[in-house]
Amino acid sequence: ALAALRPRDLAGRRVVVTAGGTREPLDPVRFLGNRSSGRQGVAIAEAARDRGAEVVLIAAHLEVPAPPGVELREVATAQELRTATLAVAADADVVVMAAAVADYRPESVAEAKIKKEQQGDELTLRLVRNPDILAELSAHPAAGRTVIGFAAETEPGDEALLALGRDKIARKGCDFLVLNRVGWTEGFATPDNSIVIVSRGGDIVTEASGSKRQVADAILDLVG
Ligand code: CTP
Ligand code: CA
Repeated sequence: ALAALRPRDLAGRRVVVTAGGTREPLDPVRFLGNRSSGRQGVAIAEAARDRGAEVVLIAAHLEVPAPPGVELREVATAQELRTATLAVAADADVVVMAAAVADYRPESVAEAKIKKEQQGDELTLRLVRNPDILAELSAHPAAGRTVIGFAAETEPGDEALLALGRDKIARKGCDFLVLNRVGWTEGFATPDNSIVIVSRGGDIVTEASGSKRQVADAILDLVG
């Protein structure tokens, strides 16, 4: 029924979706990661495909299967995600940055497994900043391209959450920012989601909740 309500309004459009969570290696067997499952990003890729778009899914450690009918590019680290995204963003009509990108990576990656015997009772990790892909895309706008960012925040209050979102979109410079609340029990492996979308000027343009597919369609309505 939903498919009938939304005809192929993205036919011929090129949509790039990043999804999942990057992992930054510490040594050959360990990494710093995050709890993103990739479900919301995968739902967006699927919805865009169903609405007729040509979809590239840039996937970092998805916990769910990648949908058929989209071009899949698998990446591990933030730097790989950046390279893959910039390579396809140039002629995209829409870029959706749903991936949870590591803000920092270990300054150096150990060649061999880190051993307790060499470290003793404490281990200090030195991390360096990763490039901000969303800010970079937004700093070099392409004519006719819409860039959509995500912000998953732990702020419990609605007004404070919105204030964080408005600050963030002003800093990032993307066209839209999809805000949602996350926590120990909310947001990650769950089938449902609840979002607010703000425009660059800080206005609320959409509020949606429901299945990740319903939320995906509400996000794509921004460009449909
Ligand atoms: N993002 C990105 N590159 C990074 C970090 C984040 O492209 N190195 C993107 C994410 O994919 C997301 C948006 O930026 O679409 C917001 O990510 P978020 O972590 O909420 O924002 P940050 O600017 O990293 O701020 P914070 O300190 O709150 O983590
Ligand atoms: Ca971040």
